Amino acid sequence: MNKFAQLDHAHVWHPFTQMRDWLRGEPIVIARGQGAVLRDVKGREYLDANSSIWTNLHGHQHPKINAAITRQLKQIAHSSALGFANEPASLLAEKLVSAADPKSKTATAQLRKVFFSDDGSTALEVALKLAHQYALRTCGKKIRPKILSLDGAYHGDTIGAVSLGHIDLFHKAYGGMLFPTDKVMSPYCYRCPFNRARPERNDARKYRKCHWECVGKVEQKFSAQKKKGNPYAAFVFEPLMQGAAGMIPQPSGWLGQVTEIARHHGALLIADEVMTGFGRTGVTCHVDDRTIADVVKRPASAKLFATARVGIVPDFLCVAKGLTGGYLPMAATLTTQKVFAAFLGEYEEFKTFFHGHSFTGNQLGAAAALASLEILQSAASVRARARLQKQMHEELQSLWALPQVGDIRQVGLVAGIELVKDWRTRQPFALRERAGIRVCEAMAKRGVLTRPVGNVIVLMPPYCTTPAQVHQMISALGAAVKSALKN
Ligand SMILES: Cc1ncc(COP(=O)(O)O)c(C=O)c1O
Repeated sequence: MNKFAQLDHAHVWHPFTQMRDWLRGEPIVIARGQGAVLRDVKGREYLDANSSIWTNLHGHQHPKINAAITRQLKQIAHSSALGFANEPASLLAEKLVSAADPKSKTATAQLRKVFFSDDGSTALEVALKLAHQYALRTCGKKIRPKILSLDGAYHGDTIGAVSLGHIDLFHKAYGGMLFPTDKVMSPYCYRCPFNRARPERNDARKYRKCHWECVGKVEQKFSAQKKKGNPYAAFVFEPLMQGAAGMIPQPSGWLGQVTEIARHHGALLIADEVMTGFGRTGVTCHVDDRTIADVVKRPASAKLFATARVGIVPDFLCVAKGLTGGYLPMAATLTTQKVFAAFLGEYEEFKTFFHGHSFTGNQLGAAAALASLEILQSAASVRARARLQKQMHEELQSLWALPQVGDIRQVGLVAGIELVKDWRTRQPFALRERAGIRVCEAMAKRGVLTRPVGNVIVLMPPYCTTPAQVHQMISALGAAVKSALKN
């Protein structure tokens, strides 16, 4: 076994990993990356089909991001945001608010303030603490601010973020440590009890037969909580697609309806764009050659955030993962002037937001993020993303021929492929059958790396992935399903 693999086995404890299984095999030790390709210490090459757990946007070793980090390194790597400002963090805050809120330059802009932190979980913690304090300060000390999130929600692994989560497998073990939150039905069309449609060879959102009962459930939940005299302080959601819940896409119109209900009931909106941000949900809903040409002519029209794409400006927008192009751990929580104002006062009033991290506003991260934003806003990147979105859609159609493919759900540049025993019955594989893991292992043998969410295979390629590489990813997935799940 390679020396680094031995050291890993001796000392490293991997996240979300059954270490007994891990210690049975020889790990792939990644040594280099270039574009969408990862290379291990033995010189084998793999496609990075989940963008290194949903972080990488433009590929590895992007010359512009490398150069930006190197330039910044010659100035300073890090100084504290406790007491000091710095150039790249100030510039980045301005660029983030203008990307997130199209009105940022006008008096009616909502998102104006940026609190930097380290990762997706901390971005959510910041939003939670701010929303909690804001509710207490504006509604009086009598209320007990309560938060509503979606069934299957995953918002990170710190205690606050876990409290928002509703995936028993991940979250139940921490029961005693968490604060109570409520959950409401999320629109999982493929397995929705209200969807009367029989399975078809199509994305379940397209052939569902229902009366928007899922929206009705949200209304009922808000009304019931209001009747208790303690309306929800905030509603937390991933816009357009819930990631770790199983790549669950929202049917067109759902997000607008439920955020309107939440607003109507006075709840703050916390949008978790840790996965969906920075162009991941695509340049437009549908890409054909004409829309590609249109967006390329006006690259600024390609919205970078899912919320901006559907015209929603939340009270908190949480970003991380792709913020630095997937290079460095950095996160941000964007919020409104209204929330900010609730924390202003004389020193001795102690209205200060008492929260912070040592690396808040880190210069290297901010320099990488600025370079990444510049790439994202270029016509070349918009064109590449539109083409990738279109090609993924076309190639994914080939997978419908496999009886173990129940649903293929694509939102922009993310696709979730749900594996089932037989598409005609939608019968799921039991988790202990490790269907998703087996398929991903078979894909790795074919030179494609990704990680499943239960029985859902995730394809989330870097935006620089070439047509030949997309073809390889999807063919490897088809072949892996055939070999790993043959009866
Ligand atoms: C939607 C969402 N929110 C938050 C997180 C937590 O991010 P991190 O792992 O950077 O703490 C994740 C991680 O996958 C996520 O997908």
